[in-house]
Amino acid sequence: MIFSCRKRLNQYFLFSILSLTAVGIFSGCQSESIQLEIPDGFPQPTFPEDNTPTVKRVLLGEKLFFDKNLSLDSSVACVNCHLPQLAFTDGRSKSTGIYGRQSKRNAPSILNAAYLTEVNRDGGVKKLDLQAIVPIEDEHEMGISLPELAKRLEQDPAYTKLAQEAYQQTPNPFVITRALATFIRTLYSGDSPYDQFIHGDTTALNASAQYGKTLFESDRLNCTSCHSGYNFTNGTFQNNGLYEEYVDLGRMLITADSADLGKFRVPSLRNVALTAPYMHDGSLATLDAVLDHYQHRGANPTRLQSANLRAFTLTEDEKEALLAFLKSLTGQTFPYVTE
Ligand code: HEC
Ligand code: HEC
Repeated sequence: MIFSCRKRLNQYFLFSILSLTAVGIFSGCQSESIQLEIPDGFPQPTFPEDNTPTVKRVLLGEKLFFDKNLSLDSSVACVNCHLPQLAFTDGRSKSTGIYGRQSKRNAPSILNAAYLTEVNRDGGVKKLDLQAIVPIEDEHEMGISLPELAKRLEQDPAYTKLAQEAYQQTPNPFVITRALATFIRTLYSGDSPYDQFIHGDTTALNASAQYGKTLFESDRLNCTSCHSGYNFTNGTFQNNGLYEEYVDLGRMLITADSADLGKFRVPSLRNVALTAPYMHDGSLATLDAVLDHYQHRGANPTRLQSANLRAFTLTEDEKEALLAFLKSLTGQTFPYVTE
């Protein structure tokens, strides 16, 4: 479990909540407060005022996340498309929803999603607290209206009890979406060999991965103009030259601005070795193919692609080094995955 009832004074505590229940936290599980294990070097996430996290809220969100009853025919849970062992992705180019329907995009990881300021690949959802509406109501994913789902859950005594304890409400649409967001805000990943290396363990990366890191950060490749910071994304929407003509218009669907055609949020590269296939449509099967894509596009730019994409040619050694670096971004542990 990501949170525990044990007293771990050297861990980060959520002071905002702690201040409300400063006494409670030391008396174990009776306490409503939670402690999150935020990775070293990551900022403290912020929480909406109307949805501060408590143990009960996380428990309710967790129950919802794993529950197939959240879909019309009770066949698909959130976890079907966000598998813990694949860094909360599903290994498919497009996901499978109810009745074997295919989702419109490739499922992204939801680790570190607490930091998203605009949610989904096109940033179409303004806050994490509302995101669950999309998969629940999307006919390609779970296919049930939120009010109908609320009616279903209100028949279930376990849910009514937990919703009451967590939000002093019935399991209504507000409670369903907020509890799921609270649960997602407990999922972090930041314990990769790369992290150990930057925090001082020089043996955590071998020579090849270290060389790959230098290449990745070089002006020649310019990867860090987009994939920067603790989560390897600057959080912007960019066109990385995947297509000349886009079937999925990306960010333009939200802004109706043709300058945003084919732009998608720069994805985190954490756990990228586990999150194949790649890109918004899962069209590139391997990291090797991703590197070939960037080499190709540098030399053969599309009309729409970002000027930050550079022309470069990698030697075999350089390619191997970059792959070793990308693989070093895989976390050592994942919530819900035991050895
Ligand atoms: C059928 C597969 C499927 C199911 C079921 C599903 N998701 Fe997703 N999830 C996706 C896909 C595909 C996307 C990308 C959507 C987009 O970019 O438009 C996504 C995106 C997300 C994101 C945004 C991540 C980001 O980087 O912006 C979150 C958070 C999320 N899902 C949580 C959930 C929750 C909570 C549930 C259950 C209520 C759920 N998902 C159910 C496939 C699924
Ligand atoms: C102009 C910004 C930009 C630059 C520069 C850039 N990327 Fe990307 N990268 C993106 C965007 C945007 C996507 C997602 C595109 C999509 O969803 O279709 C992406 C996707 C990826 C992915 C797939 C991640 C996933 O989970 O699907 C990898 C791996 C990657 N980039 C590595 C690199 C490397 C290595 C470099 C340097 C050679 C680089 N990128 C340079 C913007 C950029």
